[in-house]
Amino acid sequence: MGLAQPERCAHDGGPCGVHRRQKLPQSGGSQMSHRCTATATEPHGAIRPHSVRCEVCVSGSLTIVGLGPARPEHLTQEAVQALQAAVADPHSWRVYGLAHARALAEAIAPGLQIRSLDYLYGLTGVDRPLAYADLAEMLTRRAFSDGHHVLYLVAGSPLFYNDAVLAIRRRAAAQEQAIRLIHGMAFLDLVLDRVYWTGHSGLALWSAWNVAFDGVALDVGAPTLLVQLGEFGSSGDALNEDRSPEMLGKLRDRLRRQYPADHPVLVLYSSGPPEYRSEGRRIELSALADQPVPVYSNLWVPSIGGPDLEATLAAPSVRRMVDPLSEVLS
Ligand SMILES: C[S@@+](CC[C@H](N)C(=O)[O-])C[C@H]1O[C@@H](n2cnc3c(N)ncnc32)[C@H](O)[C@@H]1O
Repeated sequence: MGLAQPERCAHDGGPCGVHRRQKLPQSGGSQMSHRCTATATEPHGAIRPHSVRCEVCVSGSLTIVGLGPARPEHLTQEAVQALQAAVADPHSWRVYGLAHARALAEAIAPGLQIRSLDYLYGLTGVDRPLAYADLAEMLTRRAFSDGHHVLYLVAGSPLFYNDAVLAIRRRAAAQEQAIRLIHGMAFLDLVLDRVYWTGHSGLALWSAWNVAFDGVALDVGAPTLLVQLGEFGSSGDALNEDRSPEMLGKLRDRLRRQYPADHPVLVLYSSGPPEYRSEGRRIELSALADQPVPVYSNLWVPSIGGPDLEATLAAPSVRRMVDPLSEVLS
């Protein structure tokens, strides 16, 4: 059964209490959509039922929720509230997320029903840009054509290196639809924990890909942070760390055109669940491809001639809350 195009019903001032959503099966699938079953007051005062899809019902919403980079305590209060609202009213929300985002969200909002998007990384022959464009099309359609309230959960901040989010924002803007963006703490905060960045000569941020494969040259007068270190492909399981030396070798050779072999570089990564400690090791550039790097690694490249401090691996910060009283008593 196909659905009628949206029409404006007589209650065009917004949700008025008479709009009722009735679940309807969609053609060719098991998914349900909504049809407005409101009664509309005609100009002469007569009440008639109508069964068109009215604009009020069709206007869903799309919220992108940044969950922070690692631990549940990195979530903002706004993100927690969005998750809790979805748990409290599961019929009103459609929640989507990749594996890492799902684990975080489930820790905060047990029982939250999240639709997996992991298939995106299992599509052989489909590269990431295409997969993300498809995802953006699906989420905006669910929200703005089908009238669902959609939550799209992403790790970290939605605004750092997230092509799917970029595609969604562009698509929504082209359709003149507003989306809600819940900002999140970015991975940068965890990574900068293990360096001493003075800020005196700025900071460049690039994907390691740009340098290894796209020929981007760095500004050697400023420190650079290279993200997505060791990722070797734009489709499939790009996070298999055993294959990271392949890309590290290409990156090393590119950097060697600008930096000496003994230039210090810092590999910055996370210890992974459950602690997600910020880890780091300092090596010479020439040794960059000697061993694999864990998933979610980054490379800090200090400037040439910059302060020694910026080429130093900082001590890890302490995570545990310190109780001043017990410290005094012990
Ligand atoms: C595609 S980007 C997405 C970043 C995300 N939007 C954010 O703000 O955290 C993924 C890259 O961020 C970095 N990253 C993400 N999580 C990290 C973590 N917990 N520790 C260190 N680096 C991380 C890695 O370089 C990884 O390849």
